[in-house]
Amino acid sequence: MTFRVLALESSCDEFAGAVIEDGIEVLASVVATQAGIHARYGGVVPEVAGREHLRNLAPVMQATLESAGLGWDELDAIAVTQGPGLGGSLLVGVNAAKTAAWARGLPLIPVHHIAGHLYANWLRPARDEWDDSPPPFPLVALVVSGGHTELFWMEDHDRVERIGQTRDDAAGEAFDKVGRLLGLPFPGGPEIERAAKQAAPEQIAALDPLPRAWLPGTHDFSFSGLKTAVLNRVRKIEAAGEPVDVPAMAARFQESVTHVLAEKTARAAEELGATCVIVAGGVAANSALREALRERCAEIGLPVRVPPPRLCTDNAAMIGAAACYRRSEAALDIDVFSTSGPAVFSAGS
Ligand code: KG4
Ligand code: ZN
Repeated sequence: MTFRVLALESSCDEFAGAVIEDGIEVLASVVATQAGIHARYGGVVPEVAGREHLRNLAPVMQATLESAGLGWDELDAIAVTQGPGLGGSLLVGVNAAKTAAWARGLPLIPVHHIAGHLYANWLRPARDEWDDSPPPFPLVALVVSGGHTELFWMEDHDRVERIGQTRDDAAGEAFDKVGRLLGLPFPGGPEIERAAKQAAPEQIAALDPLPRAWLPGTHDFSFSGLKTAVLNRVRKIEAAGEPVDVPAMAARFQESVTHVLAEKTARAAEELGATCVIVAGGVAANSALREALRERCAEIGLPVRVPPPRLCTDNAAMIGAAACYRRSEAALDIDVFSTSGPAVFSAGS
């Protein structure tokens, strides 16, 4: 029996809809991004994001169903991101999903945003290079987004343990803050990647490497010291009346972040005996990180799976995939959780 879910995601500045079949097939995926609007302010303005979601929700839901070629009667459930995220943004998606579920008599499945990111790896486009097989358990999962940097140990869909997290900034947050510091547009992540690609090896060699926080004995991360190091370097160069080599600084910053992420993820996977590493979240779209992880994990014979970039950044397809494994958590009386949330990523736990 097929299981078709209409999924909605509205935790930050994207309002997205998707129809997913059996947790694998992407029948439709529509993302209305507001990046252009928030770029003016150098970051996401929560009040603006929520209001834009209200404008986008009906057209996105309609476009999603049209693109899937399905009517409401052909759906088996509605899924929605319950949190974590911006309260006002989440409320729009959750209330739209609740209303649709109640009006159509469909079960409503709440999904933890981080679980969503990870389950992008279960979708067909992420499986293609692996002969369509799902990621094998046990695995180590790295989530790197604008709000989270976490390592999970997954023995099965419902046996998940968080083994590490950032002690300060999330990796994406560090990219965005350093991008701003270097005068690049928001969001800084893709801009830093672009700038770094323009740096010639001799330009990079002219700058000393930036620090790496290893936090030995833990699987935790820290990126705020690195951000401060970039700030101090930039100040020093400017005080000397010299121009800042933005591409080279971007490359040095990216190198520090990706080195720590790849090294610590590989060490955790080796220590715990994982059969595979999966990566997810907006920063997983970064090609230097994908490369660093693949290279480091190849040394210990571990495959690394990362979804295509469009499924790394916020989307609703990933929410529909996660929902397939959380059908028993369906409930109509859900509320949002914003900054905090359950420690492990099952929304019901
Ligand atoms: O997962 P996501 O779309 O939203 C959150 O859940 O936070 O992640 C957004 C983050 C932003 O910080 C953005 O700068 C970063 O992902 N990002 C990247 C790249 N694309 C997006 N960071 C580095 N390189 C990229 N190519
Ligand atoms: Zn996200």
